[in-house]
Amino acid sequence: MTDTLTKLTYQAFQQGKSYFGVAHKTLSTQIAKLVSPPPEDNTVPLSPEVLALLQRSIERLQEEDWQDAERGLYPTEILFDNPWLDFFQYYPLVWVDLPKIWERVDRKEYQRFDSDIDTVDYPKYYVQNFHHQTDGYLSDLSANLYDLQVELLFNGSADAMRRRVLAPLKQGLTHFSDVRPAQQRVLDVATGTGRTLRFLRNTLPKASLHGTDLSPAYLRKANQQLSELPGTLPQLCQANAENLPYRDDYFHAATCVFLFHELPPQARQNVIDQCYRVLKPGGTFVICDSIQKNDEPKFAPLLHNFPTIFHEPYYRSYTEDDMTARLEKAGFTDIETQVHFMSKYWIARKVMRS
Ligand SMILES: C[S@@+](CC[C@H](N)C(=O)[O-])C[C@H]1O[C@@H](n2cnc3c(N)ncnc32)[C@H](O)[C@@H]1O
Repeated sequence: MTDTLTKLTYQAFQQGKSYFGVAHKTLSTQIAKLVSPPPEDNTVPLSPEVLALLQRSIERLQEEDWQDAERGLYPTEILFDNPWLDFFQYYPLVWVDLPKIWERVDRKEYQRFDSDIDTVDYPKYYVQNFHHQTDGYLSDLSANLYDLQVELLFNGSADAMRRRVLAPLKQGLTHFSDVRPAQQRVLDVATGTGRTLRFLRNTLPKASLHGTDLSPAYLRKANQQLSELPGTLPQLCQANAENLPYRDDYFHAATCVFLFHELPPQARQNVIDQCYRVLKPGGTFVICDSIQKNDEPKFAPLLHNFPTIFHEPYYRSYTEDDMTARLEKAGFTDIETQVHFMSKYWIARKVMRS
């Protein structure tokens, strides 16, 4: 395929996902209003100006994604990476699950778990039906639906946002150019179903990849999906990111995608401190999470609507949190931030020993 044809195919692919996401949300919202009308609607309608701005910023994100692939930072194939089998298998279940969600929303139940789900050994802040997810993060059903639900939420651009961590990560690893690629260790904290590890595997085919998460079900799903890839299987480990089970100065780089908005403030600091501890001096930490309060003032209605529609108990405090100050407090330097579409990035370096 010529570059132009590949680019057009990528744009069409993204547009298809975007239309699908919008259609799904419009239809499910209309049905919810009929079947289970909310007592009051506290969401703020999006003006045509905000919708146009959103459209432009999603297009910019896709252009950046394309350009990184075109300049060889990662293979163009990963632009088309999509769990198709899961899509056909689990999309109907997204609909089957919706009435259960509406019932919990109606009853204002945000921590409901079936009796066969063991919630005992998890931090209290974690035992939640985050985004009204059935079983929270603690079942195979939840793990099977998660990727699909996130793609629907972000109109098909969740993976493009995750891929924005790859350029700064690869750049950070140039500090260790004397280390053979196979000996470079990269950790993805709160890896979930392993989407970021999947992209890391494609971008750094030789690196030693590691992923942690608190959810055994999500790690099972990650293991299943990562096993499909050629090359060494990333090492997965169930762990609280507030207490990482690795020795000091172990990793050359670390990533953390979409975790911090789901943590209370002290846990955010604890996770950053741990990432600092396990990184080698000179190591790079790349965070990707939601945009924050003043990043794009016109997106204020979106930041208001997200935790109004979804159960996100720590989101508002996250959007006002000074993450740069937290990174500095842990000891990180050279902190840089970026904003792409609905996501924000912090790129930070652990100080070199003199
Ligand atoms: C919104 S998901 C993000 C998952 C993945 N990084 C992604 O890009 O989709 C949040 C993930 O963080 C995990 N998590 C939440 N709190 C955690 C903690 N304290 N330690 C480890 N993992 C945690 C959850 O189990 C879940 O997989």
